[in-house]
Amino acid sequence: MADINEILKTLTLEEKILQMTQYLPDFIDGNDSGEITGTMYSFDINQEQFLNVGSVLGLGGAKTVRELQDFYLEKSRHKIPLLIMNDVIHGYRTIFPIPLAIGASFDDELAERIARVTAVESAISGIHVTFSPMVDLVNDARFGRVMESTGEDPLLNANMAKAFVRGYQGEKGQEFKDEYDIIACVKHFAGYGKVTAGRDYNYVEIPDYLLRQTYLPPYKAALDEGCRMVMTSFNALNGIPSSANSYIMNDILRKEWAFDGVVISDWNAVGELWQHGLTDNSADTAEKAINCNVDIEMMSDHYIKGYKQLIDEGRITEEQIDVCVLRILKLKEELGLFENPYRALSEEKEKELILCEEHRNLATESVEKTAVLLKNNDILPLNKNEKIAIVGPFADTHNIIGAWSCKGVNEESTSIYNAFKNKNIDFNCAKICDIEDECFDEQKLIETIKDVDKVIVAVGENQDDTGEGNSKGIIKLSKVQEDLVKKVHSMNKKVVLVLFNGRPLDLKNIIDCVDAVIVAWFTGTEGGSGLYNLIYGESNFSAKLPMCFPYDVAQCPVSYIDYITGRPKRDDSGSGRYTSGYIDMPNLPLFAFGEGLSYSKFVYDNIQISGDMEENQTITVSVDVSNVSDVDGVETVQMYISDKVFRVIRPMKELKGYKKVRINANDKKTVTFEINIDMLKYYDNDKKFEVEKGEFEVMVGTSSKEYLSVKFNLI
Ligand code: BGC
Repeated sequence: MADINEILKTLTLEEKILQMTQYLPDFIDGNDSGEITGTMYSFDINQEQFLNVGSVLGLGGAKTVRELQDFYLEKSRHKIPLLIMNDVIHGYRTIFPIPLAIGASFDDELAERIARVTAVESAISGIHVTFSPMVDLVNDARFGRVMESTGEDPLLNANMAKAFVRGYQGEKGQEFKDEYDIIACVKHFAGYGKVTAGRDYNYVEIPDYLLRQTYLPPYKAALDEGCRMVMTSFNALNGIPSSANSYIMNDILRKEWAFDGVVISDWNAVGELWQHGLTDNSADTAEKAINCNVDIEMMSDHYIKGYKQLIDEGRITEEQIDVCVLRILKLKEELGLFENPYRALSEEKEKELILCEEHRNLATESVEKTAVLLKNNDILPLNKNEKIAIVGPFADTHNIIGAWSCKGVNEESTSIYNAFKNKNIDFNCAKICDIEDECFDEQKLIETIKDVDKVIVAVGENQDDTGEGNSKGIIKLSKVQEDLVKKVHSMNKKVVLVLFNGRPLDLKNIIDCVDAVIVAWFTGTEGGSGLYNLIYGESNFSAKLPMCFPYDVAQCPVSYIDYITGRPKRDDSGSGRYTSGYIDMPNLPLFAFGEGLSYSKFVYDNIQISGDMEENQTITVSVDVSNVSDVDGVETVQMYISDKVFRVIRPMKELKGYKKVRINANDKKTVTFEINIDMLKYYDNDKKFEVEKGEFEVMVGTSSKEYLSVKFNLI
């Protein structure tokens, strides 16, 4: 095993600083092979310096990575292998549903399997680190990056974060034993999901009690699972951009949580301290980030430009630099790069494993487990013997894999048309309009649907209008798509709406014109196959919404995590004036967190609590769930808790547990949850994580709005 302390001694101060900088690979070898995800500035770095940087981003492919590593090892003076990082967010080349959809599965095991396949395809393609999981808690559908997150709930996000980390790195304690294990980098620390007004990169204000209770737990969960890297966020949090925010970077991350792994800035986020107005020269910029223990500066050049002055003036010390560099060398050592800089990369394995049947099968299964059925007036599943029509911009397109698809190729995906054609279904299919057309082709529509009773209308957002830099002020379907839905309905056809979306949409204008709604999200490679299986009942729906679908964009941000006020409008039945509501629209979203139907029908009854809780004691709540249908199914049983008297205001309910339970047709299961005192504790602004004695309500049900409830006391 390499002795990183000895290796450190061989480096000049400048070489140490270069370990702490990261650029696209083309700066090193002149080949334009990296992906650009942000602003490009020209860097004040000479070629020899580029040849000694510690890591690159945006690269993948066994041949390309091998060539770069060879070139670099030949040219760099110190011969320390390069770390190769990339954004492998929901699959490398076999693409899985977007992370928001993975959140909808409420299935940690599925998330782990997806991350595993992603790790395998990445590792054989030469990638060492993925900039994932993204665990920013999101509750504003305007923000384009909600597609990268697993939703609005801290517990769901925390469980998903852990599952992703296990899938990438291997079981905690066993990490990197397998050559396919790669390093996970949790991002964006911290609070990026709460950008003001839903505008990407905007400032974030989160008071301490809320930060600790709701926003920080998913990052912490990833680290508890062994995640080795953290990425800073672009946003200012409570006035200070994250890369210079000592409270979150030093006090919380390094001291309270004792994180000793590598922190990397986001793309030019160190440089943007300057744009933010915090600094106006390289030395000050570098000083702020280095003093916040940001070990790697991504895509800006202030460390290398500012370090000499900082050392000369005694504003940072070489010992401080050594600590950062050792953290980076330790990652390289953990991966075994000093022994084998190529690790698992293999062109043969790429041919064998990338997009292999097993990976494609998991992609299909993932679509089945992530698509949410929001409405079904007994029209689904469809009958294979009945002729149908499929219309809309997504009827026959491969542009469904989703943003942030790494090396995914749209054309390698299965469209709805492909999947139905392969199964010999009798159907007419026509696009009728594009997403942004002025109007649809009415003649073509009439021709396509005239001889059928049921029409699948496949509509949605352009996948490139979701993700980074794609905040929206309007979250409705485009007008032409709404008009199309209304027209099909007005022709007395039954409408199955299939949505391709990267964010919750406002569906109020069309919801009454449709007989079924399937939220497919952006599906990854096997969208058509998974949807075919669901639509024809070869598999059953089990996913639930990980974010509310607002009634109107004006409600944003909106979440089931809603705080009590002195003048509550708890539901939409109360009168409007002088209560905390709108006089012209409901408070409640159109579809709530946790909602999602199945072809099975689940009935809840007999909620029981084992008794009151004494401190340090665990109690249980149980409920009987019956499947009163002839279809086997999986129900996501959800447990929420609410407190009655508190030190700082509390949400009206918080998710404290969920279980996916398979219940066969006409069968019944008793589902039990444990409740412990930590589930009742909460943070106040004095950082106290405590709970008072008194009454609590526990709710167990099928969504955040439909449940049975029972009370207990903490005594
Ligand atoms: C994004 C990050 C991403 C990075 C590197 C940035 O623009 O905010 O999420 O990991 O680019 O590609």
